[in-house]
Order: sequence, then C-alpha cells, then structure tokens
Amino acid sequence: MNLYDRIPNNVNLAEDKKLQRALEKWLPNYLDWWREMGPAGFQDKDVWLRTAIDVGSEGWAHFDYVKMPDYRWGIFLEPAQPDAKVGFGDNLGKPAYQEVPGEFRNALRRIIVTQGDTEPASVEQQRQLGSTCPSLYDLRNLFQVNVEEGRHLWAMVYLLHGYFGRDGRDEADALLERRSGNPDKPRILEAFNQPCDDWLNFFAFTMFTDRDGKYQLSALAESGFEPLARTCRFMLTEEAHHMFVGDTGLGRVVRRTAQLMKEGDVRELGGIPLDIIQKYINFWFSYSLDLFGGEISSNSADFFAAGLKGRYKEQEQYQEHTAVNDIFTMLVVEEGQVKSREVPLRNALNEVLRGEYVKDCEKGLARWNRVLTEEGASERLYLPSPRFHRHVGEYAGHHFDIKGNLISKEEFERAKTEWLPSLEDREYVRSLMHPVYEIGKIANWIAPPAAGIKGKPFEFEYVRL
Ligand SMILES: [Fe+2]
Ligand SMILES: [Fe+2]
Repeated sequence: MNLYDRIPNNVNLAEDKKLQRALEKWLPNYLDWWREMGPAGFQDKDVWLRTAIDVGSEGWAHFDYVKMPDYRWGIFLEPAQPDAKVGFGDNLGKPAYQEVPGEFRNALRRIIVTQGDTEPASVEQQRQLGSTCPSLYDLRNLFQVNVEEGRHLWAMVYLLHGYFGRDGRDEADALLERRSGNPDKPRILEAFNQPCDDWLNFFAFTMFTDRDGKYQLSALAESGFEPLARTCRFMLTEEAHHMFVGDTGLGRVVRRTAQLMKEGDVRELGGIPLDIIQKYINFWFSYSLDLFGGEISSNSADFFAAGLKGRYKEQEQYQEHTAVNDIFTMLVVEEGQVKSREVPLRNALNEVLRGEYVKDCEKGLARWNRVLTEEGASERLYLPSPRFHRHVGEYAGHHFDIKGNLISKEEFERAKTEWLPSLEDREYVRSLMHPVYEIGKIANWIAPPAAGIKGKPFEFEYVRL
C-alpha cells in the first residue's frame, strides 16, 4: 500500500508510469470539480471520517479528523485471487480476464461509465445539505458518504484509464463535465438528476438509490473481468454504510413522527406526517427500480453469456451457472392488460436482480414498521407496486396505481399527489430544515440515533465547526 503517494493506491501505480501520469493529470481536474460541486462550505472543517488505509478487513476502517479536501482519494482493489475463474455464462471455468475482452469493450466501457457517473452525481445532488443538517452526527455521515462517492469515482476512472486507452481517458474527463439536473449536460441516469435538497430526500436516496448500487456492484463483483470484480468488491464495503445512513435515518424520522402522533397533530408539532414519508418512499423506490434497466434485455443476456455481469450472489445462491435453458415468467402489458409472459432467463436478468433488490427493500420497510409498533402506532408503511411510476422498461409509457393496477393517464394525473410528493409537501419538508450544529442536539423532526459512530456517543464533536 503506497499510502503517501500523491495518489494512494494498492495497484502498484508507481510501476505503471503511463497510467500514473494520466491519473496525475486527472487529479487537479477532480479537485476542481470537488471544490465547485462537492459539499458547499465546511471544506476547511475537521470531520471525523473513516479513511481507507488498507483493504484488509480491519485496516481500511481508520477513523480520524480530516478536512474533506485532504481525504485520501485513491485506488484500492481487493487483493487478486490466484487462479480466478469466470464464474458463469458460456466461458464458465475459463481463466478470468485480466484485460477487456475485445468484443465487449464498448459495452463494458458503457457499464463502467454509467456506474462511474452516479458517484459524482450523488455528491452534486447532496451538496447543499450541510446547511440544514439535523445534527453533527448526521452532518458527519453526509460527508462520509460524499467523500466515499468521490473515491468510487476514482475507482471507475482507474479502470477507464487503465484498460480503455484514449476512449477511457475521454470518458474520465466527461465524468467531471456532466452535472446533476443540468438540462444541457445531465447525468446519465434519471434518478441522479432528481433534486435531493432536503434530508428526507437524502435518507430515502441513500436507502433506495444507494441500494441499487449495492446490487449493481454485487453483480459486477463476481465479474470475469477481474480488475472490475476486485474494484467493486472493495466499493461494496463502503456502500454498506451509505445504506445504513438511509435506513436508520428514515427509521429515526418514522420514530419521531410516531412519537409526535401520540402528542397531537404532527404538522402542528413540527414533524413530518407519515403520508409524506410514504410519498418520498414511493418516489425514490420507483426511480431506483428504473436503474436496473428493462425487464427484457438482450444486453443482460450478452453480459451474462460473456461472464461479465452475473446474478446477485451468483456463486453462493446458485448451483447452475449457465442459466441457458431456464425460463422466467414476468408480468408485461399486452393489449391494454397486465399479462404474464415467459422469457428466456438470460434475457430477464435485469428483472431477476431487481427482484433481489425489492426483497431487500421490503426488509427495510419491515424495520420501519417495527418502529411504528414500538411507538404504539397502528399505521404501516409499504412499498408501491414495482409497476408504479416507472420510466424505463415494460411499464414505462403506461400508468398504474400504487397497487399496480393499470389506469388511464387522466386517473393517474388526478391521484398523483396522493402517491408522490406534491410541491406543497416538498415545501413543507423544506420548511422544517434548519441546521442544528450544537454537540448532542437534534432537530425536532427526527429521533436521535440508537448509537454513535465507531463507539463514540451521539454527543461527540463529529464535525469541528
Ligand atoms: Fe458509490
Ligand atoms: Fe453510495
């Protein structure tokens, strides 16, 4: 581990002068982007951050005060496995690819660029949140997520520079040029162009949209293209914290709301009513489902065949790794009705991965509903139908109610604000967002966490202001 190089890394960058020069040229552009589009303010403050100093199970989680621009952006891959093999598809059992297979070069570059684009996009979406943080604990968590997404961008840029030549370098530059929500040069995926300008959005985003990341990275973590697999495996260890922030964050909002429900009118008491929380769930869940791509996809079949993108926990969950003769039954819209259709399994792998994601989200909902039970509330939160409010795939262009029944466009428009945050809902939530910067204090609309970070109490100076 060359920790004190200009670019900390465990990929022997010093021995690859060409790659090192390319990345050292990209570094100042990255820092310019961070200054312009990273968290607004707080750049000269000490933040109690976790920093990767080693990829071993213990060493990478090093905690100390760091100013965000001094965070150790770098390139960390899980160690190579000797005799790594392609784990699925038509090349099952052959040696893993150490270089990009020629025929999949463009498609693989697209996957890496699309994943890479989400990392800076989320930092851009979240850049104003520091000025309305509910506590120092939450402020620190926000910044932790932000610096790690910045480092994930580095991970993807390393692959582009290292394995895709000139095209890769151009793509790496473009990753710093697109901007979340900018109509002229938007980010690639729509969930990453949606505003994330209040903390309820932030928690729902880290719960649902970062969780999409978990499933995409997991599918790539077993890729036959070994540099990609090793990169994704390390990123997954960080992604877990992002989902923790969202899951527990929303759980704390739910808890506070349930407490206020016992005292009287939640709105009058300055809390976030349960129906608004539900609408934010509906919004981010549906946008996050789109990130998995079309239900029926020849790309997913090609990628699986090539051994590049597998199923979730391919090795652990499945006995048979070619998936060549299986059939998957899914619901599609045909002649104005929802009907089931049989599809070759390989063409349905986006939907298979999405199904795993939905199961995982359901566990989150169960946790939040347990909080409601604990606080004596009989109301329940739920996930909308996966057909609801979709913009990609088989259900795009059709309208469904929250339960997944086909309805007309007019019916959808009439009921829309019952299911999705209205302008008033968003304005109300924003009206509650006032910063709380005192140590150990917390905003009224959210409950404190059950514990602090890494053994520290909630009453700890997580950010020195
Ligand atoms: Fe990430
Ligand atoms: Fe993340």
